[in-house]
Amino acid sequence: MVRRVRLWSGLVLLAFVVTHYVNHALGLVGLEALDAGRQAFLWLWRSLPGTLIFYGALLVHMALAFWAIYERRRLAMPPWEAVQLLVGLAIPPLLILHILGNRLAAELLATNDSYIFVLLIYFVFNPVALAKQTTVMLLVWVHACVGLHYWLRLKPLYRRLLPLAYGLAVLIPTVSLTGVMVAGRDVARLAEDPEWLAAATQQLNFPDEQGIALIYAIENGFYLAFAAALVLVLAARPLRSWWQRRHGIVNLTYPDGKRISVVLGTTILEASRGAGIPHASVCGGRGRCSTCRVRIAGGGLEALAAPSEAESRVLGRIGASPNVRLACQTRPNADLEVTPLLPPAPAMREVGPKPGYLQGEEREIAILFADLRDFTSLSEDKLPFDVVFILNRYFAAMGLAVEESGGRVDKFIGDGVMALFGVESDHKRGCVDALSAARRMSERLLEINAALKHDLEQPLRIGIGIHTGAVIVGEMGYGRAVSVTAIGDAVNTASRLEAMTKDLGAQLVVSDPVARIADVDLSAFPLQEIEVRGRARPLEVRVVKNALSLPVAADHRVAPAG
Ligand code: FES
Repeated sequence: MVRRVRLWSGLVLLAFVVTHYVNHALGLVGLEALDAGRQAFLWLWRSLPGTLIFYGALLVHMALAFWAIYERRRLAMPPWEAVQLLVGLAIPPLLILHILGNRLAAELLATNDSYIFVLLIYFVFNPVALAKQTTVMLLVWVHACVGLHYWLRLKPLYRRLLPLAYGLAVLIPTVSLTGVMVAGRDVARLAEDPEWLAAATQQLNFPDEQGIALIYAIENGFYLAFAAALVLVLAARPLRSWWQRRHGIVNLTYPDGKRISVVLGTTILEASRGAGIPHASVCGGRGRCSTCRVRIAGGGLEALAAPSEAESRVLGRIGASPNVRLACQTRPNADLEVTPLLPPAPAMREVGPKPGYLQGEEREIAILFADLRDFTSLSEDKLPFDVVFILNRYFAAMGLAVEESGGRVDKFIGDGVMALFGVESDHKRGCVDALSAARRMSERLLEINAALKHDLEQPLRIGIGIHTGAVIVGEMGYGRAVSVTAIGDAVNTASRLEAMTKDLGAQLVVSDPVARIADVDLSAFPLQEIEVRGRARPLEVRVVKNALSLPVAADHRVAPAG
């Protein structure tokens, strides 16, 4: 809720700033265009609804900045977040005189705060204030752009439009400031004429000394109130910690055995940061990116408060299991073991939504192994270049056959291939796809042999083994060598069936469960029984001399029975 209010108040302020800056840019056209633009700007923002919306958003946004400081258990934060917070806090004191001198003076002292009024102040009466106003214009813009960027950065459309966004981020303040400078120079030139200056100051109703003193008194009052609020918030934090310490401390244990103690109410992300433990948090702890997710173990898991609606939504999007929580949203109330699930600086591909199986899931899939027969002896009289060329053609053809059939290549091992089917679909589909892939591999091999007939003394031959069963699927590996793979007895059995093709002189050995689950009639192929570790009964397998003889449907997939 707080996050949403902060976002919407920020968007209102951004709309105000963009319209204001675009108005400034009309200074490039001339003073008349500048004031014509101002009429539209005033119509929008000085109407009663516009005034309530703008000043309401301003107050809420400021109050939420104080709340964010109070809420944090520790002030340790990434540099970009610290800059964003400091810039945000600097803006109100730097901007207050501009607001008082224009809007408030217009309301209280009946000044005509037109562009000429403001430009006379900055370019004629008080040029020092121009530097301050230019600085605050840029700070406001930086603050808005950073906030917007961290809100949108995970959205695919924004990533596609990033060059345009960068262009606008530079173009808008540049054109705006140039408009101000050009218009200011024009006003300064007009003000060289004392008669024009006297008439203008009278017509604009510049405040007298009393009016100016009133503006400065209100400004000082604001500074005092702002400083007091900041001091109160900063003082409230240790008071709260003291209170909570009297009421409880929880211990968090990390995978390397590091144990840290934090006061109740601290989020796991704050605890990591406070203890200097690197912890991914791409969205800066706003509960949007899921990169801070942790697996939780230990007795405190049951004691945790249920995830909020927003956290549940993010966890649901990545298919997280019940013991996975967002570190930035979870406040332990008992001792916990926490394991961050992403590296501290995750790649963007790890940031977006991920299917649950990537985090490790038991699934029933089909596994295919294929291997070139006698390739070692075949390659003995070949140059290394030729061997690599032939192998790459073979890998490309086999990889394509797998992918066209709906599977995913797990890995190439030597001259062999391991592929998984049904990871993203269901069990039956996986078994049908694996059989289809075997058929396609056989087809592709014929094509390669035809294409390379002058380079090969004898045609390439393959052996394929397919089995199905429950395996653990997940993203495994380290660093760049991370990929989706599967482990389990069914994988070993599939590999064993592939090895059997050599002794049986067949191109494909497929376990009977694959045919049964795929609902494909393989009764035309000889049946054999083999002993498999972990199975009480022997495993029945079908021996297929040539995978091209598998039944085929119109879509080139192996045809289910009936
Ligand atoms: S840091 Fe992004 S969801 Fe927690």
